[in-house]
Amino acid sequence: MHRLLAPVEPTWLDAVRAVAAQHKFASFDAPARLGASVLRLSSVYNDPAGAGLRSQDAALLEARLSFWLVRDLPKVTTAARELMDAGLLRLSTKPLRVLDLGAGLGASTFGLTRALCLAGEKGTVDALLVDDDRRALALATEVAREIGKTLDVQLHLRTLQQHAPSYVGRERFDVILLGQVVSELDSDVDPIPRVQKHAAWIARLMQTSLADDGCLIIVEPALRDRTRHLHGVRDALMADKGITLFAPCLHREACPMLEGRHDWCHEDLFVDLPESLIAVARAAGLRFEGLTYAYLVLRRDGLTLRSRLPTHASLARIVSTPLVTKGKREWFLCGDAMSGGSLVSGKIKAMRLDRERAPHNIAWDEASRGDVLGLSPPLEHDRPRLSKEGSVAIVHASFDTES
Ligand SMILES: C[S@@+](CC[C@H](N)C(=O)[O-])C[C@H]1O[C@@H](n2cnc3c(N)ncnc32)[C@H](O)[C@@H]1O
Repeated sequence: MHRLLAPVEPTWLDAVRAVAAQHKFASFDAPARLGASVLRLSSVYNDPAGAGLRSQDAALLEARLSFWLVRDLPKVTTAARELMDAGLLRLSTKPLRVLDLGAGLGASTFGLTRALCLAGEKGTVDALLVDDDRRALALATEVAREIGKTLDVQLHLRTLQQHAPSYVGRERFDVILLGQVVSELDSDVDPIPRVQKHAAWIARLMQTSLADDGCLIIVEPALRDRTRHLHGVRDALMADKGITLFAPCLHREACPMLEGRHDWCHEDLFVDLPESLIAVARAAGLRFEGLTYAYLVLRRDGLTLRSRLPTHASLARIVSTPLVTKGKREWFLCGDAMSGGSLVSGKIKAMRLDRERAPHNIAWDEASRGDVLGLSPPLEHDRPRLSKEGSVAIVHASFDTES
């Protein structure tokens, strides 16, 4: 498996610093000033319409460049990890064609490029960045020019200033990126029609602009309402049998997080901010530990993550932190369990008693949120307790402690 989980490399920070210097923007070297701009921007981010983001205010731009771009870049790096592990995302002699809608300063395209670089891929990424914010696109181009001086992967950017949902092109892309933009769109539309509208848009985009073996990656902030909107869009898309759900879900049944009103499924990976941004995060009162986001990877060719994993009696993804109480360890899992003699998919809170810890189930202790577990036999839906003989294996790890 590719190991991608580390704070962004110093070369990316140097590229951002160089662009900030050209614009006389505050950078990591002035954490108090940059922190104040970050604080202002985070209040704009909390506005669901995100309208202020397109403001020409230099303080907002410097915060986007020197803080949020660096903070958000690893999201697509890690959201792409399963595609890369499955051998479905790599560079070849032909350029990898990328469409990045709502690209902003290019965090998603850069995150993808970084994933390819970390995997040792060689070749060219040819990306079209679409956004209605001209200054953000200009900064993305400048960062690409700077980072391009140090990367093994060739990065060619084109930009298009346009309303992203109106994008219609003749090209087909190997990867379409929707990074933290879906839930910014149409905030004035009621929730149910909004879900239908976004699902219809994404389905159309896949039909008209995605290569037959391409993938579409959506990333959203791990905020409850924004992530639940993504779950709703996922469910609406599943009505279209031509759309394959690659990851993170191991099934295409209705998302169990929507059964209650308060649940949402998101990643929380052990990737901290780089050292030089920790002082900035502190100055802005923001967290610097962990990388949180929600994601969805869609395809059109029927290939699922599940089909690329070793066969087990049942598979389930860990969708919570561990719940450790006296004498037992529990996880919320999303995947398969037995019910009435057949395998059903959904969310399960499952436990293993500490006194039943054994070599064949030690993975229960070693696992982390986001890991996919192979369970044999499957858990019983009505009594989801690992049996004494039940074996557990981590069949896909969300990160590797050796990295
Ligand atoms: C939070 S930023 C995300 C930037 C980047 N994609 C990422 O992954 O972090 C959202 C971007 O979407 C853009 N955006 C929002 N609504 C848009 C629209 N209707 N048309 C084009 N761009 C839009 C904003 O200008 C902003 O740059």
